[in-house]
Amino acid sequence: MKKTHALVLAIFLTTTMTQAAPLFSEHDKSVAALLAQMTLDEKIGQMVQADSSALKDKADVQKYFLGSVLSGGSSNPTNGNSAQDWLNFVTEFQNQALATRLKIPLIYGIDAVHGHNNIEGATIFPHHIGLGATHNPQLVERAERATAEEVAGTGIRWAFAPCITVPQNPRWGRTYEGYSDHTALVSKLGVAATLGFQGKKLSAAPASVLACAKHFIGDGGTTNGIDQGNTVCDEATLRKLYLPPYIAAIKAGVGSIMVSYSSWNGVKMHGQKYLLSDVLKGELGFQGLLVSDWAAIDQISPDFKYDIEQSINAGLDMIMIPNGIDKPNNYVEFITDLKQLVAEGKVSPARIDDAVSRILRIKFALGLFESTATDPALTAAIGSPKHRAVARACVRESLVLLKNEKHVLPLSKQIKTLGVVGSAADDLGMQCGGWTIDWQGTRGNVTTGGTTLLAAIRQTVSPATKIIFSTDASDLKNADAIIAVVGELPYAEMKGDRDELNLSAEDCALIAKAKSTGAPVITILFSGRPLHLNSALPDSAALVAAWLPGTEGLGMTDVLFGDHQFTGKLSRDWPAADQAAKPLFPYNFGLKP
Ligand code: GLC
Repeated sequence: MKKTHALVLAIFLTTTMTQAAPLFSEHDKSVAALLAQMTLDEKIGQMVQADSSALKDKADVQKYFLGSVLSGGSSNPTNGNSAQDWLNFVTEFQNQALATRLKIPLIYGIDAVHGHNNIEGATIFPHHIGLGATHNPQLVERAERATAEEVAGTGIRWAFAPCITVPQNPRWGRTYEGYSDHTALVSKLGVAATLGFQGKKLSAAPASVLACAKHFIGDGGTTNGIDQGNTVCDEATLRKLYLPPYIAAIKAGVGSIMVSYSSWNGVKMHGQKYLLSDVLKGELGFQGLLVSDWAAIDQISPDFKYDIEQSINAGLDMIMIPNGIDKPNNYVEFITDLKQLVAEGKVSPARIDDAVSRILRIKFALGLFESTATDPALTAAIGSPKHRAVARACVRESLVLLKNEKHVLPLSKQIKTLGVVGSAADDLGMQCGGWTIDWQGTRGNVTTGGTTLLAAIRQTVSPATKIIFSTDASDLKNADAIIAVVGELPYAEMKGDRDELNLSAEDCALIAKAKSTGAPVITILFSGRPLHLNSALPDSAALVAAWLPGTEGLGMTDVLFGDHQFTGKLSRDWPAADQAAKPLFPYNFGLKP
């Protein structure tokens, strides 16, 4: 970068933001005292985050002094998926860590990206695109506070959330993990989520959970929305579009940041020393820990040892290693290779000490050295009515009314005959989307428990109402109105990218068939992004974007039957099928009946 440009940039940055206050500096003495006692093996062990499914022998946590364990998308306990099963599972790993010479506690991490979504019976909130449509930071903070309580109720104190991506192209399969394509809204809600997870400050409070702003940087800006692709833009654009949410999250005290798989101008983010060290840790003063994504360093080159050298020297502090010792690039290899790199002078002891200090500082801030016990009240709060009420409010405020001909909405609870069509109406898996029990999500009644839209309708209308539920829109005679529920099947990262965004022909045909009865059709769309509606829009008297609302289906009937007003507004433009045209519905659009 030209010297003048760097100088201008530095002046710009120093005038536009003050460095974050020293984070958790009150623990520096304890960190230094502990670090001084640690061997190189113990230090390098702290920098390893192994996946629970890779740890065939939990005793490896003790043997290799591992600092962290995660459960990736589908790495659930083998003996059951209840909250107690999880608490027992996590405790077994923690006990191994506490049995080491220095008894350095483990920090366990999980993707609680829309509630504690791996756990049976957890409250599943709307995915971020729906929370974005609430435009309500106070509500987002409440949602993540509830999520933090459920996460901590299973002995886990690190959530890999909030995702503060700014997705530019809705063809990207992770669009729904982003609040918005408007940077300012992402910054606002990312701060709210951070405070929800951590509390006003990361602390020893039982439900203070380490938040993880992800994925740094430009994950949502790749060409054609290709997952883990290449974000091509100049530095000024990168800073304008994608950096502000991190600046805000750091100021809010976020304790960890996850690095993106994607590349910037052809260089893998996991090897970007300038952005990870000079910008993030230097200019922005980030004092928490920088964690890699799942086997992401392996993408730097075919040589694992070289990948380790590049990523650690670029500024990574902890490496997420999902491979067991029966596979290449596993956590034992990592430790061996990094020890060699230090002996060869290719990774400095100072870099190791910086990484380990950041990790220990977080563990002290969380109070893990004092206690790793779980408050049973938090375990009991998993899926509680109180948490579900927060999720229901999120659902209510996330629904966006895009069309409402002749004020067909709200419907009357006394409606005589109501048709409900489409299998999605009674499919909790579709209602929740990806990252629910399983990594990619599943159709049908996922074992979270919850209320489908059909069940919510049954609970809402009067006992005299006749409900005709028909997955293929047949036998709807005499229906006074028809609710048609359509949308995307569950997907998550790597599986959700699309070349086109059309609502499926089957869904359009279902809506058309319902319309042919002559009754007004209210279309409810479950989707992780805006879709091209094609004939569905003219064929629907009313159309609601419900996004991926989660387990609390009553939040939808709250607004469909008028107990609450529609308040949701688009958190991103709804593109027209003809890309060149202006948006079909612009950012911030949302009708009130
Ligand atoms: C995944 C995702 C990341 C997640 C991590 C752990 O590949 O990219 O968002 O936190 O791995 O599951």
